[in-house]
This record gives sequence, C-alpha cells and structure tokens, in this order.
Amino acid sequence: NDSAKEKLIRVHEESAELFHHILLNTTIGEEALEYLTQRGLTREVIDTFNIGFAPRERTMLHQYLVGKNYEQELLKKTGLFVEKDSGELLDRFYNRIIFPIRNQQGKTVAFSGRIFQQDADDSAPKYLNSPETQLFNKRTVLFNFDLARPSIRREKEVILFEGFMDVIGAWKAGITNGIASMGTSLTNEQIHLIDRTTDHVIIAYDGDSAGIEATKRASDLLAAETNFDIDIIRFAEGMDPDEYIKKNGADAFKELIAHGRETLFGFKMSYYRKSLNLSNESERLGYIEKILSELLSVTSAVERELYFKQLATEFDLSIDSLKEQFQQKFHESR
Ligand code: CTP
Ligand code: MN
Ligand code: MN
Ligand code: MN
Ligand code: MN
Repeated sequence: NDSAKEKLIRVHEESAELFHHILLNTTIGEEALEYLTQRGLTREVIDTFNIGFAPRERTMLHQYLVGKNYEQELLKKTGLFVEKDSGELLDRFYNRIIFPIRNQQGKTVAFSGRIFQQDADDSAPKYLNSPETQLFNKRTVLFNFDLARPSIRREKEVILFEGFMDVIGAWKAGITNGIASMGTSLTNEQIHLIDRTTDHVIIAYDGDSAGIEATKRASDLLAAETNFDIDIIRFAEGMDPDEYIKKNGADAFKELIAHGRETLFGFKMSYYRKSLNLSNESERLGYIEKILSELLSVTSAVERELYFKQLATEFDLSIDSLKEQFQQKFHESR
C-alpha cells in the first residue's frame, strides 16, 4: 500500500525505463538514437541520464501502464497524459527524445521531451515539459542536482547551466558538478537548494542575449542571498556550453571552466558598458558612478584595488579621486 506519491514515482520510473528501452533496443528508436549519436552522446551517457524516446503513436505509454494495472485516476495525476473530451487519455509525450527529470532524492518526477526531426512542426516548442503535479514543481527542481551533488561537495562549487544538453555535454567532458535551471530564470527555491550544498556558484549560461540577461538576473538573485561566491563563464555570441564542447573539445572546455572565469564584478562592468556610448561624457560619468556603487559589494580590498586601477587607466582618472568618490558612497550607504 504505497502512498499516492510513491505510486506516481513508480509510474515515472517505469515510463522512463520503457522510453529508454525503446530508444536503445527497437527500430522505432533508431532515428532518435542516431540524432543523439550525431550530437556526440555515447551509450554510457545515455544510460547515465536514462535518456529515452517516446514514439509517434499516442497510445503506447497509456496501454503499457494499463497493462500494469495502474488505474485511470492515478494515471491522470501523473501529468503524462492529456485527456480528450471523450475522457480517453492520450500520451502527452510522443515523437520526442525524453529526458527524465529527477528530484534531489534521485527519483524521476517529470519528463522533458525534445523535438528532433527536420520536418517537425515549427509552432511546437523545442522542449515540452511535464505540467505541475503532486510530484513536480518546476521552481523547486534543478536538473541533475542528485547526480552532481557528490562532485559539488568535492569541488566546493557548482556550475549552473541553462539546459539539459549543457549538463550532459559537460558530464561527458568530465565536468560532473553541473546542474541546470532548465531555462533562463533561476528561482529562489532553486537557490536555497544550492545554498545547502555549496557557497560557490559558477554561472555558465548561453552566450546569446537571453543568456546574458539571465546571467545578470541570476547573479542578482544569488547575490541577494549572503555568502555566495559568484563567477561567470561567458561564451561567444550564439554559442552555448554544449556547442562549445562540440566545437573545441573536452580539454578546451575543462580549461575554460578552470581558468576562464570572470569575476561577477568584471561581468557587470562589461554588462553595463555595452549599452552605453562611453564617448559621451554624462554616460561615462554615469557608468563610473554605477561601477563604484557595485564596488560597494566587493568585500575584498585587494580586489577593489584592482578595479580602481582598471577604472583609472581606462578613463584616465587618478586612483585617488576614484577612491575619494568611493568613500563618499560608502558613507552614504551606511
Ligand atoms: N527549455 C524549455 N522549453 C523550451 C525551451 C527551452 O523548458 N521550449 C529549457 C530546457 O531545459 C532547455 C533550456 O531551457 O534545455 C535552455 O534552452 P535552449 O538554450 O533554447 O536549449 P538548449 O538547452 O540549448 O537545447 P538544445 O541544445 O537541445 O537545442
Ligand atoms: Mn567558496
Ligand atoms: Mn538558451
Ligand atoms: Mn542553449
Ligand atoms: Mn544547446
């Protein structure tokens, strides 16, 4: 007599196994497997993440679970089906590659399905996720947190990616402390989960403008919680971590993760700068003001000294005048 939640988890675990089996061992899974192989995934990594394939036929999962004597009412609560007007249940996920989403305890609580065919409907979302259920609250889940936790503890830091394939690509490259916010908005619930495991977060979001804006938002949220050390890894415009690995290889990626970090402050300097015309005097002064305000939250005096020097050189100002203005701000802020 399982609790309702345990039953729902069991349905997810059994569904994941079925999808995984179809991907690896059947002819209907061949095309999806070929796609994943093209993207560089090995059999080992497909097993680790229990990746699967949901076939075109929209009754497959339903029939399979009915065959295992699961009741209709329970199946409705899984979020894995959409109910027709007639009451008939159709599989929510079909003709998609399936990424199981596990909670912190390692239990599968949801799925995300990726479209992969050329002829796929343009209006369909690239990834389709499980809806909110008794098991799954998207705001509170971080993709791969369960598998990453031991390395997060060991490395004393976590790498925050946007997407599934970034985490998986990094894992294959030997970076196993990666997790994903599953999109561009990190939530406070996710931050509290991270906070219990480490105080050092490396944000490695996509290099497009959505990723840059999301980096700013995520770092603001993280900085609002005390004690996080935050570093940023930036990718060229239009490139994400997974694409970087594919293009430059695992060693280059590991090198980037280890030595290609930008401080949060450095990121903010370039973030604020990019929207400004610095040859305009008032914009230039506004920028220096902004940067000095940001410096208030840099606690290391040595680090501050470095930025004073940088600013002084860049804008041909004396370090003393910058420090004076900083001191003034410091007193105002108290
Ligand atoms: N995402 C989502 N629904 C979408 C698009 C994106 O939930 N319609 C989430 C997924 O978790 C995805 C992440 O946001 O992994 C980042 O989105 P994006 O950068 O667009 O996708 P990639 O992760 O780069 O996916 P891929 O490499 O497979 O194209
Ligand atoms: Mn630390
Ligand atoms: Mn993206
Ligand atoms: Mn991406
Ligand atoms: Mn990608």
